[in-house]
Amino acid sequence: MTRIFSGIKPTGHLTLGNYLGALRQWVEVDQHRAESLFCVVDLHALTVEHDPARVRRLSRQAATLMLAAGLDPERCAVFVQSHVDEHARLSYLLECVANDGEMRRMIQYKEKSVRERERGGSVRLSLLTYPVLMAADILAYGADEVPVGEDQTQHVELTRDLAVRFNQRYGHTFVVPRATPPKVAARVMDLQEPTSKMGKSHESGAGIVYLLDEPEVVRKKILRAVTDSGREVVYDREGKPGVSNLLEILAACEGRGPEELSGAFDSYGELKKATAEAVVELLRPVRERHRELCAEPGRVDAVLRAGAEKARAMARPTVDAAYRAMGLMMPA
Ligand code: TYM
Repeated sequence: MTRIFSGIKPTGHLTLGNYLGALRQWVEVDQHRAESLFCVVDLHALTVEHDPARVRRLSRQAATLMLAAGLDPERCAVFVQSHVDEHARLSYLLECVANDGEMRRMIQYKEKSVRERERGGSVRLSLLTYPVLMAADILAYGADEVPVGEDQTQHVELTRDLAVRFNQRYGHTFVVPRATPPKVAARVMDLQEPTSKMGKSHESGAGIVYLLDEPEVVRKKILRAVTDSGREVVYDREGKPGVSNLLEILAACEGRGPEELSGAFDSYGELKKATAEAVVELLRPVRERHRELCAEPGRVDAVLRAGAEKARAMARPTVDAAYRAMGLMMPA
């Protein structure tokens, strides 16, 4: 059976980008067709300056939202990365397979290290090795597929390289996975800056729709989205990034392709109104279910406990096999 692994990093409140680029596909498709694991990757949140209490709070919130969006613990494992030691164990072994040059070439490292330095901070070593931990997340479970948005595909490519290299050097140990981004909305852009990705840790929240935004806030953000010169509503990502982003969001909400919607609106205003309503309706059940789940925290804890147990049992044999393959003497 196909195995799927994916994760969300608790560095900010989850966004419409996380939902359309990843979470929705996990809920609607992946958990029904494969043995799936979905993880709140909290260790990754420590790679940039962080407030411990906030990371803890956001980890719980991310897990609750994953369940609120419809992940079913009967169908998949939902858990927190730091609850399963195998991630860190394997990450170290993979650091002995990766080299520093390939880490420095990662786009996200380049962008984030510049940002950290601009803020006057230093760059944590773990930011450089971030993709190795991500590779460990995936390879520990023998995942075949990794449903992620477009911004993560380079990291999955690196994971493939490390798996192939390890297998060649030390004998076949890992499945070589592939990224499976969604067909529509694999890269949702910021509403105020439609040439940049809608990211949770962006400075101003004006261009970001958060899953827990009130409907009125969602409407306001979308109605104030930056659009392009001209008046025609056409899908053209290069020439009309703002309009194309809205078309893509609306298309994703309606389960269509954005080209199909080109020409369906007479004005930018009409497109914005339709998009705002579609997003409000899309998020309504998630917000409602989130509120219900917040009232039963014991339920979320129980799901995470069971998820970690299941995940540990799945990862352990592969990680132990990697230890042996690399020449470590396992305890007798
Ligand atoms: P993270 O937490 O930034 O994002 C979680 C998922 O949401 C997708 N995503 C988007 N998709 C479309 N448009 C956007 N604007 C947008 N923003 C985010 C991301 O592509 C991702 O699929 N490194 C990962 C977390 C991670 C992981 C893993 C993922 C750690 N280990 C192993 C998969 C497998 C990250 O920072 O995702």
